[in-house]
Amino acid sequence: MDDLIKQAAGDLAAACNVVALTGAGISTESGIPPFRGKGGLWEKFDPMEIAHIDAFMKDPARVWNLLVKEMKAIVDTARPNDGHKGLAKLEQMGKLKTVITQNIDGLHQAAGNTDVIEFHGNFAWQRCMDCSQKYETRQVDISQIPPRCRCGGILRPDAVFFGEMIPQDAMWRSKQAASDCDLMLVVGTSAVVQPAALMPLFAKETGAKIIEINPEETPLTVEVSDYLIKGRAGEVMNQILQELKPAI
Ligand code: APR
Repeated sequence: MDDLIKQAAGDLAAACNVVALTGAGISTESGIPPFRGKGGLWEKFDPMEIAHIDAFMKDPARVWNLLVKEMKAIVDTARPNDGHKGLAKLEQMGKLKTVITQNIDGLHQAAGNTDVIEFHGNFAWQRCMDCSQKYETRQVDISQIPPRCRCGGILRPDAVFFGEMIPQDAMWRSKQAASDCDLMLVVGTSAVVQPAALMPLFAKETGAKIIEINPEETPLTVEVSDYLIKGRAGEVMNQILQELKPAI
């Protein structure tokens, strides 16, 4: 692994336009569970039963009680970890331009990244299903479920449920950023959910280097990634940054 850390530091030193694609794995060190794998949310729930827009429309109180309330409790108090902070440092160094994230926890912005494309929306806000008024999630009173807007409408997360479209501007900007970059860091994603998992392919097509950081292999590892650094995002980012400082 030491050799790969050195290689990644060298590749980052040589790169001018770095983009990161991140997934739930980068936030596990902040105490937010992933979706798949051991301890993942989809081990407990069938996503189609609980995270599909049809399930929410059919019974919003059930989805609030089983999923959204728990997410609110976790996300309200989560703080960025060394993985998020490492990506923010790469931006400060002038290397990293954009983070494309599938996460809805807002931790990249909290760490200091300024150009974050939220592929699946975000959980910082709840939106009234009737009048579209937004409320900060932290301020939403959940003594009554489902919580309601002043107009009486039901509040829903301002995030993308299964069965909903990816926001058009997020899709368009992500494609653009992926196609323009010369190095993509793919951090903490199982890379099985489309269209986010296509972004490394767009980057590869235009000649970018693809570096994965993940304790496990993914469908990208063999054919798309140049190499996988097997490890936890926070630890790996710290080691890369340590190595990178003398190199730039
Ligand atoms: N550091 C880096 N990677 C990690 C860590 C860690 N500390 N811990 C776990 N991982 C890896 C896992 O090995 C796995 O490959 O993170 C990945 C998490 O995968 P998923 O839970 O599938 O998360 P993600 O890829 O973001 O899922 C995509 O699926 O259910 C939907 O909308 C949800 O945005 C989500 C999308």
